[in-house]
Amino acid sequence: MSAGLRIPDAAPGARVLAFGDYRPARVVTNDELAQTVETDDAWIRSRVGIRERRIAADDEGIVELGVHAGGKALANSGLDPSDIDLVILATCSAESPMPGHAAQVAHRLGIDAPGAFDLNAACAGFCYALATAGAAVRAGSARNVLVIGSEKMSQWVDWTDRSTCIIFADGAGAAVVTGSDSPGIGPVVWGSAGDKWDKIIIADRNASIRQEGQAVFRWATTAIAPVAAEACERAGITPQDLAAVVPHQANLRIIEAIARRLKATNAVVADDIVHSGNTSAASIPLALSRMIERGDVPSGAPALLVGFGAGLSYAAQVIQIP
Ligand code: UT7
Repeated sequence: MSAGLRIPDAAPGARVLAFGDYRPARVVTNDELAQTVETDDAWIRSRVGIRERRIAADDEGIVELGVHAGGKALANSGLDPSDIDLVILATCSAESPMPGHAAQVAHRLGIDAPGAFDLNAACAGFCYALATAGAAVRAGSARNVLVIGSEKMSQWVDWTDRSTCIIFADGAGAAVVTGSDSPGIGPVVWGSAGDKWDKIIIADRNASIRQEGQAVFRWATTAIAPVAAEACERAGITPQDLAAVVPHQANLRIIEAIARRLKATNAVVADDIVHSGNTSAASIPLALSRMIERGDVPSGAPALLVGFGAGLSYAAQVIQIP
């Protein structure tokens, strides 16, 4: 009879050690967009909440953006590149499907031969990647994981389509996940609605992003708050215990609707969309990085992260703010 296989010692918990972010230098205002498509600042602010967004330079791709954000998270963590043994990069806007970008980002950061893979869960990608990183650390498959959300949505936008070009933007955010004695990343609640697969799509290699805005809006404002509430319950806290609510930065009205339904009355609600636009898998770490840098949220307090978007896919978890 087999004695079974040996497995590594597991860490009791996982936590986020540090965040990092990168916003490309170029700021594109609503007025600038109004010069090329029929729209105006007042419409965009009232329907979406965006005042300006960042658009990457021609020579800034998924790798470049990811290196900036990942490098900052690594520096903030105090770890050495040699301490990282897994890199997960969430993106849905890659220039090409192969190779994945995580290995190149790791190489550029001086991380030697880590496990490396890309993950596509669209705007929920960062939460999926964070959950995967936490599970890898708890299972003993990795000591420290660099998780990156990196997006260059601008290269998949039809700049003559006013219903999408005013929304999507570029940027990257990252987190370093490590082992801990007590859990700092709560259980993930993830799921999907594949019957709505065609509500946000890039149909083929020559296509641009199309979405049925109102259908996605309805879904996001009804289906996502219960997911967020369940993430709190599974983490053993109430929404009133939250110091921060960080939804994917899709639309300020969606963000406010989720926070209202969740009744997270003591939480600061992320509104990074106002200045950064919708950066898909990058939006949650971009928003939380800035909140931490500004001192908006106390270290050690619980923050709810909830991502949702194309797939349709969603994921939420509560984390302790590093
Ligand atoms: O991150 C991935 C997840 N994505 C989302 O969560 C997106 C969810 N959806 C939304 O955020 C919103 O549906 C949009 C921001 C995409 C659109 O806002 P809306 O309030 O749902 O507008 P609408 O699509 O119902 O359009 C209302 C009107 C239309 O004109 P008519 O047909 O009423 O004459 C549009 O043609 O607004 C028009 N419109 C615009 N007008 C000025 C659409 N885009 C624009 C624009 N400027 N940029």
